[in-house]
Amino acid sequence: MIILGIESSCDETAVAIVDDKFNILAHCLVSQIKLHQSFGGVVPELAARAHLEVIDSLITQTIAKSKISLNDIDGFAGVCGPGLIGGLMVGAVAAKTLALVCSKPFLAINHLQAHALTPTLFENIKYPFLLLLVSGGHSQFVAVLGVNKYILLGETIDDAIGEAFDKAARLLGLPYPGGAEIQNLATQGDPLSFKFPKPLCTGTHNYQKNCNFSFAGLKTAVRQQIINLSVNNFQAKERANTAHNLSEQMIKDICASLQHTITDIVVDRTLHAIQIFEKEHGHLEHLVVSGGVAANLYLRMNLEKFVNNKGITAVFPPLEFCTDNGVMVAWCGIKKLQAGLIDELNTPINPRWSLEEL
Ligand code: KG4
Ligand code: ZN
Repeated sequence: MIILGIESSCDETAVAIVDDKFNILAHCLVSQIKLHQSFGGVVPELAARAHLEVIDSLITQTIAKSKISLNDIDGFAGVCGPGLIGGLMVGAVAAKTLALVCSKPFLAINHLQAHALTPTLFENIKYPFLLLLVSGGHSQFVAVLGVNKYILLGETIDDAIGEAFDKAARLLGLPYPGGAEIQNLATQGDPLSFKFPKPLCTGTHNYQKNCNFSFAGLKTAVRQQIINLSVNNFQAKERANTAHNLSEQMIKDICASLQHTITDIVVDRTLHAIQIFEKEHGHLEHLVVSGGVAANLYLRMNLEKFVNNKGITAVFPPLEFCTDNGVMVAWCGIKKLQAGLIDELNTPINPRWSLEEL
């Protein structure tokens, strides 16, 4: 079985061809990061137009790279949500058109489901497993009971984790998207130099025994820290950034402290999520971590250490398949087609499509 998958829900246009023997036959990706960088975030209309500009050539290029012909493809998968409506329409309509023209099944892919199942392309993971989905728009713990069965255990009550990285980066004058940038600078900073809040976590005044997250307060704390340091540092000769008067080392220390705090929050919430999962489903074997923030090496290392101590294996996708890509969509298409979950060509786009609606 061979599936072509298209991702266009945010700021990456990506196409991939994957088979059911765990082979990636080809994958191509065009990033729009440069286009949106001067705006400090994704501009939906610009994103949609940019998807439209490259989608045809990207499909042609991916098929050529795979060395198979269009007729060899058994189904076409396109992301129908969640995401930005303009971009979703471009990718989904392209996948539907290919399915129609080739008389092959169309597979409507939920972007979060694609993130969730990506690690199963690389590792043998049995259901049920616990999923920690950490991306630019989502932070969720989900019990994954099967290809199409998801139970939400907890989620962010305000900002998503990737959003926290991106907003803090913006305050620091770093380019969008901020996560990878903060990770790089953090390697030269002291993670214990600043104390940032860990809302809802063990030991805090608003501790919650569930596995929800809260990240909005972090952004405010970073802003306040920047203001304090800027005022104190106003006379300092080492001034490096005229926007906020922080020295390079101060920026690195904030990055390291922020990344450390976010990791602490994730570890604390993961402990609760494991307890909630195990109450219902017995001993957890695999914690699957997916989505763009799963590329964070500091988070990977600390989370892995934490769950390994509990006899649980942490599974992360390879770094290049943490952030949005076409492979995850094509692989999700394989899993859906194997389960007989074919979709109608008039399946609507749903910018707010949740995993629980599957
Ligand atoms: O999954 P993704 O590519 O897109 C969404 O579905 O949202 O995730 C993008 C998010 C951005 O917020 C970005 O800053 C974050 O993932 N990210 C990272 C890293 N690489 C990407 N966050 C922390 N550390 C990283 N290395
Ligand atoms: Zn994503």
